[in-house]
Amino acid sequence: MSAKIQSLRGFNDILPEQTALWRRLFEAVQQVMDAYGYREIKLPLLESTDLFRRSVGEATDIVEKEMFSFVDREKASISLRPEGTAGCVRAGIENGLLHNQQQRLWYQGPMFRHERPQAGRYRQFHQIGLEAFGMLGPDVDVEILALCARLWKRLGLNDFRLEINSLGTPETRVRFRDALVEYLSARIDRLDEDSKRRLYTNPLRVLDSKDESTREVLLHAPKLADCLDAESREHFAAVLAGLDALSIDYVINPNLVRGLDYYSRTTFEWTTDQLGAQGTVCGGGRYDGLVSLLGGGEVPAIGFAMGVERLILLMQQQAQLPDVGSPQVYFCWLGDAAFAQAAQLAEQLRDAGLRVQLNAGGGAFKAQMKRADRSGAGIALILGEQELAQGVVQVKSLRGGEPQTEVAWTELVSGLQARFAGPISA
Ligand code: HAM
Repeated sequence: MSAKIQSLRGFNDILPEQTALWRRLFEAVQQVMDAYGYREIKLPLLESTDLFRRSVGEATDIVEKEMFSFVDREKASISLRPEGTAGCVRAGIENGLLHNQQQRLWYQGPMFRHERPQAGRYRQFHQIGLEAFGMLGPDVDVEILALCARLWKRLGLNDFRLEINSLGTPETRVRFRDALVEYLSARIDRLDEDSKRRLYTNPLRVLDSKDESTREVLLHAPKLADCLDAESREHFAAVLAGLDALSIDYVINPNLVRGLDYYSRTTFEWTTDQLGAQGTVCGGGRYDGLVSLLGGGEVPAIGFAMGVERLILLMQQQAQLPDVGSPQVYFCWLGDAAFAQAAQLAEQLRDAGLRVQLNAGGGAFKAQMKRADRSGAGIALILGEQELAQGVVQVKSLRGGEPQTEVAWTELVSGLQARFAGPISA
């Protein structure tokens, strides 16, 4: 016997009972994006590997060890996208969306990173991302954070913490990096192995270290805030004032540097304590230099991405019951002669906007009623030979104890429409 084929590690099936929650999430996202004037863009899953090398950065974890990269039939190196910003900028430049204009864009879909899978961290995961181009801020920085806050509210998620920081300009960071490397090099024995390596490849990432000894060393390290240029300082103050004006709470986290190279000035993360180690649900920031780095001129930009699976986990934890999209009506029919009539009536009910599951695959009356019950429908309709002769159907309630009634075909649509009208359609 040949071996059983299984899914790849970190690649998940999302089953029907979960997709109902996904649908609720995406309905809320669509509504909130519309409310702020963001338009959806759909981007390829595969891009040239160079795109990510140049944008996300050669020395980042993502590019160094997490990309699914292949050599294709034309001998080009291509990669499954580990994130959406690089592709969005590429598409913006290529389609002339960014030159001398503003764009408010959002996207969603799978991303791929070869990480060690655990709860909340997968190799194929989904992001909802947003990118705003052509606005120097700080107004737009505040706008996209307000958009997040509105989405959390719409989803009924309320225990997020907004952590925010400013990375300043690239010059600020060079100044800060030099000061940091000098300080850490003098204390290199007390750093963890990862940080020792990063000290020479990507020293800002040392600030992210969770190692206790390294964290102690960092306590007295030079602070990025002290190296900020005057304009970045002003920008940051204006962002914070804008958040205050909208009563959006935040915590300034001077060590928040993020794991991708393209950021400048404002960076932020929305985190929660409800998801253990994978508590960052949304992360983003300004990346004013990326468009020009990829050959598209000086276009300021800011954006974020949120992890869909993490949001779904939170929604599940808060016992948000999915509306699993059950049928409202299960239609049982008995005998070939009844089928044509049942199928016609079912179509009429669907025309009227009802969700109807028509029995298929045969079965005795008892078996059909069992299916009706399992379907989650509120009522069952029954059409047998006798009903066919009389031009009626039996209407049987599956949830309450109401008595069974007989309804004429001509009355069926209006009767059921009235029954299922209103906000609760069960
Ligand atoms: P990121 O911080 O790498 O940023 O990812 C954003 C979010 O994606 C994370 O906060 C997390 O919720 C989710 N995520 C990341 N990796 C995984 C994983 N392996 N499994 C499950 N969820 C994951 C970016 O990707 C930037 N492109 C965000 C951005 C847009 N910055 C500016 N514009």
